[in-house]
Amino acid sequence: MLLGIVGYPIKHSISPKVHETLMKAYGIEGRYLAFEVKPSDLREAIFGAKALGFTGLNVTIPYKEEVLNFVTPVGDAKFAVNTIDLRDMKGYNTDIYGVEMAFRNAKVDVRDKLALVVGAGGAGKAVAIALLKMGSKVVITNRTQIRGIETAKALREYGNCVFHPMERIKEVNADIIANATPIGMKGNPGMPISEELLREGVVVFDVVYNPVETQLLRRAMENGCKVITGLEMFIYQAKKAFEIWTGIKADVALIRRASLEALEVDQQGPAEIPRGEA
Ligand SMILES: NC(=O)c1ccc[n+]([C@@H]2O[C@H](COP(=O)([O-])OP(=O)(O)OC[C@H]3O[C@@H](n4cnc5c(N)ncnc54)[C@H](OP(=O)(O)O)[C@@H]3O)[C@@H](O)[C@H]2O)c1
Repeated sequence: MLLGIVGYPIKHSISPKVHETLMKAYGIEGRYLAFEVKPSDLREAIFGAKALGFTGLNVTIPYKEEVLNFVTPVGDAKFAVNTIDLRDMKGYNTDIYGVEMAFRNAKVDVRDKLALVVGAGGAGKAVAIALLKMGSKVVITNRTQIRGIETAKALREYGNCVFHPMERIKEVNADIIANATPIGMKGNPGMPISEELLREGVVVFDVVYNPVETQLLRRAMENGCKVITGLEMFIYQAKKAFEIWTGIKADVALIRRASLEALEVDQQGPAEIPRGEA
């Protein structure tokens, strides 16, 4: 079976290592390869992979929305696709499932809670959709205001979703804060929001998983917040993608181990970071 991931840039992706570990564990011969695809080549890359007999592709920054031009989205993937089944050209969004599982495993009841989602790109949409579907009220903020406004408007079909300008987010008294920007990633250090928002008891989720313990999560823990790492989301989005391509429900502990190995983090993970179940 041939699988892969397309993005630009792509060299830091841990997906090849994780999916090849799963393929080996479940006796599937093949490869999962990372492809750096230039924006002008996206169509050729996707149809080329299909022509070459690839079963599926993951899609990452910056193509999660653009691939909607080439695939038929299934369900909530109509806003962003991160997994393609090339056999029938269907597009899925397993990031949404990843977010849902990350919150469920952390035993956070998000119903009727106010969630502030920072970022309105592919990850921001996945986080907002998952939280809205689980019953939260969502406030989206974004650096580029118009993108944030349009995203909040589009996601209103899922529930109570509004936009609030970044420069006034201190006015938002959120129970849950989610970072869905790349701020905090390896090579892009910093905090996506002011530390003042990290009040005791607030649940803080970071989509960034490299490093697992971001500056945001570290500060949140110091301030008495409950934290959920982006690794939890990563693990479950990978699990669902693998299931779409192979029909196999892979072992979560195995995915976690392979992810941590790929991140060159100690197998136990940072001691104070809570883990999801299983
Ligand atoms: N844990 C997981 O499984 C998982 C899954 C998917 C993605 N991710 C991570 O999520 C992050 C975002 O990915 P994406 O696919 O959503 O990317 P994207 O579609 O390119 O969106 C990026 C978002 O971040 C904002 N942003 C970028 N740089 C910023 C800055 N310096 N200051 C303020 N806002 C900034 C953008 O705002 P503008 O609209 O103003 O540009 C946009 O809202 C990446 O780090 C990715 O690795 C994690």
